[in-house]
Amino acid sequence: MNSMYDCFTLRNGVEIPCVGYGTYKAAEGNSADIIRTALEAGYRYFDTASFYGTEEYLAQAIRESGIARGELFLASKMWRDEMGYEQTKAAFQRSLERLETDYLDLYLIHWPRPDAACTGWKQLDIDTWRAMEELYAAGKVRAIGLSNFLPQHIENLMQNGTTLPMVNQIEFHPGYVQEATVRYCQEHGIQMQAWSPMGRTRVLNDPLVTELAQKYGVSTAQICLRYALQRNVIPLPKSSSMARMKQNQDLFSFAISQEDMFRLDTMPQTGWSGLHPDAF
Ligand code: A2P
Repeated sequence: MNSMYDCFTLRNGVEIPCVGYGTYKAAEGNSADIIRTALEAGYRYFDTASFYGTEEYLAQAIRESGIARGELFLASKMWRDEMGYEQTKAAFQRSLERLETDYLDLYLIHWPRPDAACTGWKQLDIDTWRAMEELYAAGKVRAIGLSNFLPQHIENLMQNGTTLPMVNQIEFHPGYVQEATVRYCQEHGIQMQAWSPMGRTRVLNDPLVTELAQKYGVSTAQICLRYALQRNVIPLPKSSSMARMKQNQDLFSFAISQEDMFRLDTMPQTGWSGLHPDAF
């Protein structure tokens, strides 16, 4: 990879940019302005979700930018209360309308279960996935996948679905690398993505990450994002500032050595959000 426009190839041949922009945080500020800035900064891959409340702002910013739909990679997710066969199709349609588009590049199940008490999650996931498969077969979405799914959740779909998930997006950063899930997905050809690739800033003052930032002459944020890339995990950083958006794209002029990658792989747990899909 030599720039954020270089792509990983999903199992169905769809090309996905190796760095995206996470729009979750944008809901806290003037969202359309922030997303417009992200477009100006050069981002073309935008990760949103019905839960984030940013789909309309993303549509507005794109409309005002004049950038053609075909130049963009748009991903969204249905929320935990939108799971189920009919519900998923309706949720997808609402996302299309809010995004002012007639197709998505990627659609994900946001969480594998509505809450920890939901004992019927396996059937719910199967029904939800069947709707996703039909949206994919109908050409309304170019790729389908998962978010926050652990191997036990993915196995259920492997055994009961007909289309293998193409993507899984999880919390991933130095200090919380979810090794079992990453290994499982990479062995099964599921493209991994990182939400909160810098642990929502919780990792940026870590002593090891700071030491490596000094060694490579970059910021601690760049160490976190480059770490994800070298693990073949697509980072989806959020930022509200042009300068930091640009910095978060500057990931291709240095490489973390194998020894330092091992140190990041094995550092003590830090910066975990506290969110676990089976323990809400
Ligand atoms: P800001 O919007 O002020 O840039 P994550 O993507 O891991 O959830 O982290 C998002 C948080 O990290 C935001 O609070 C964002 O703040 C901050 N952030 C993003 N990029 C950088 C950077 N390059 N340096 C420092 N903080 C950053």
